[in-house]
Amino acid sequence: MALWSGRFSEGTDSLVQQFTQSISYDKRLYPFDIQGSKAHAQMLAKQGIISQNDADEIIKGLDQILQDINDGNFEFDEALEDIHMNIEARLTERIGAPGAKLHTGRSRNDQVATDERLYLRFEADQTVELIRDMQRSLVSLADKYRALIMPGFTHLQHAQPVLFAHHLLAYVEMLERDIERFQDARKRLNRSPLGAGAIAGSTLPLDRNYTAKLLGFDDILHNSMDAVGDRDYIVEFLADLAIVAMHLSRLSEDIILWFSQEFGFIGLGDAFTTGSSLMPQKKNPDVAELTRGKTGRVYGHLIAMLTTLKGLPLTYNRDLQEDKEGLFDAIDTVKLSLATMSAMLGTLTANEKAMAKAAADPALEATDLAEWLVKQGVPFRDAHHQVGAFVGFCARNGIALNAASLEDMRKSIPAATEECLKLFNASSSVNARSLEGGTATVRVGEQIDRWKKALGL
Ligand code: ARG
Repeated sequence: MALWSGRFSEGTDSLVQQFTQSISYDKRLYPFDIQGSKAHAQMLAKQGIISQNDADEIIKGLDQILQDINDGNFEFDEALEDIHMNIEARLTERIGAPGAKLHTGRSRNDQVATDERLYLRFEADQTVELIRDMQRSLVSLADKYRALIMPGFTHLQHAQPVLFAHHLLAYVEMLERDIERFQDARKRLNRSPLGAGAIAGSTLPLDRNYTAKLLGFDDILHNSMDAVGDRDYIVEFLADLAIVAMHLSRLSEDIILWFSQEFGFIGLGDAFTTGSSLMPQKKNPDVAELTRGKTGRVYGHLIAMLTTLKGLPLTYNRDLQEDKEGLFDAIDTVKLSLATMSAMLGTLTANEKAMAKAAADPALEATDLAEWLVKQGVPFRDAHHQVGAFVGFCARNGIALNAASLEDMRKSIPAATEECLKLFNASSSVNARSLEGGTATVRVGEQIDRWKKALGL
């Protein structure tokens, strides 16, 4: 019988039961539901609303249930709708009368919001740890290939030579902001809804600050209707996950390109690639492809949550139960993507020859030539135009920029000297970009060392 059956004379239709249940997925909240209930019971006793004896019984009973669920000895019942009622019903079954006092001054509305906030606080920390591991994988690779040069791309066209390490560290920076976002979201979600009741608070002398303190919340939510009615913390968490997924997806795309025969820039371990059932020669970067593919799913969950919330009148509506499946899936997806991608990066080897060969394209130094002219006093626009004309000349004659004679160069660039011919060198080009944040080996080396220190490598 449902815990709310008092005012009903008929049981729930089986379709409705199937339709409204959330136990099949919200059971993952059990450790947090139990943690919240224990704090609530302790507070009820401290306030003299229930006896200390009853509270002790409740807490003991809840600890046993926690153990049972951990051990797989708990049968979840769909008729009891959700995790809250499954645990409460079992508690009363187990300890009798005191169990029936646990829900005093509480509603599932403040209870579920409490569970979710405790759960997300935990998951924020977990996700941050996984992002840190990913940063470590990237920094280790950068460290291993400290001086390796590759072509940098804009528009997927050769742009300027850069260090492979510089490219990898760009992702480390992005991931650092991702971490900051989770830490920031954590601050906002770490507030206690407990005591908000169903909507308006309670006539009982609850001590909201006490339960908040017991649960490690930084503060209480100061408006009971806000506490039970909003799910912005879930939207924010999903948005933060979506941004990580987006970064992982871009890294995946780079890896997929680099691993293609056309680039041939990298190798990946056999354990992190898959074959084809038909084509014997294939070795596919499926981990990167799936990470890219799963990003769509994570974005979808964010939009679904925003859409569920947009027309809801205050405060709690059952629509809010739809906040969980997408959130859980997004968390599982991003965490598994992070772990798998980090491990895959550990097997990545750079094909130094292929990168060096691609980086030897002298067109990558066209900007260096224009900037050399600027140093001789030529206005940048004129320099750009002259070098552009020279590149056009070479293209029309089917020669590389470093194959033209000084005489030919002077037809487009009157101020050119022998020095210009020496600019077509990827290594000097890289090292000339020694501004902070630039790709010079010294600068990137400093960044690698800074990150190694920060990440305990
Ligand atoms: N399972 C519900 C949810 O996740 C718990 C809150 C139910 N509240 C209610 N008034 N039916 O939203």
